[in-house]
Amino acid sequence: MRTQIAAANWKMNLTLQQGQDLLSDILSKSTSVREGHAVIFAVPAPYLQAAKEIVGDRENVYISAQNIYSKTSGAYTGELSVEMLKSVGVYHTLIGHSERREYFGESNQFLAEKVDVALANGVTPIFCLGESLEIRESGNQNAFVATQLEESLFHLSEDEITKVIIAYEPIWAIGTGKTASSEQAEEIQKFLRDHLAGKYGQETADKISILYGGSVKANNAKELFSQPDIDGGLVGGASLVADDFVAIIDALN
Ligand code: G3P
Repeated sequence: MRTQIAAANWKMNLTLQQGQDLLSDILSKSTSVREGHAVIFAVPAPYLQAAKEIVGDRENVYISAQNIYSKTSGAYTGELSVEMLKSVGVYHTLIGHSERREYFGESNQFLAEKVDVALANGVTPIFCLGESLEIRESGNQNAFVATQLEESLFHLSEDEITKVIIAYEPIWAIGTGKTASSEQAEEIQKFLRDHLAGKYGQETADKISILYGGSVKANNAKELFSQPDIDGGLVGGASLVADDFVAIIDALN
């Protein structure tokens, strides 16, 4: 059974104190995360160390970055490296969130480099992909996400791909309240797993956690997570409300 994951993406929100209070509140209400489950908090870079201190040695709870650069050090003003993550005990990072692809022009090839530097340093990539409304309405979503997989991940070995968490996030569902139906999400996430199986074999594909993101809420998480190829969620807005994110954690299968 692959790991079922509730991941929070705080994006560019909260002051340090607000983030500390939110994290402490969630962890006081979700006291233990059972084996086979994981809860991940992707917090703003300045808060990584403080968040790690709050999590302490809790099992199956992790702090993540929201992005890394494709180099481990050097003259890249403003960027964040895996070395910096490791120096504060953080071993997860989002890579390729649609907002970074849109606002910062991150290509599939550039993201492949980021995946490589993360894996080479023992950091787990949470690799984000997903189509726009225009592509969905054209019916070309499967081909689009297949290309994202192929150009950013299919150079990886069988061992390496099992270390990647994939997050399918239809752009048209992010922050809109227009959640993909559980049928829509399951259909494309099964396609992703089948595409992975075509490259790496079914046994390896079945080991990979594929999360859904895009308006996951307390009232839809259970149905979404009940789908065979949805292994949890990557949550934006609802992760900023303690009781809502606790309900989403509780919805994990
Ligand atoms: O990375 C998760 C995020 O893009 C989803 O945002 O607010 O639709 O849950 P939201």
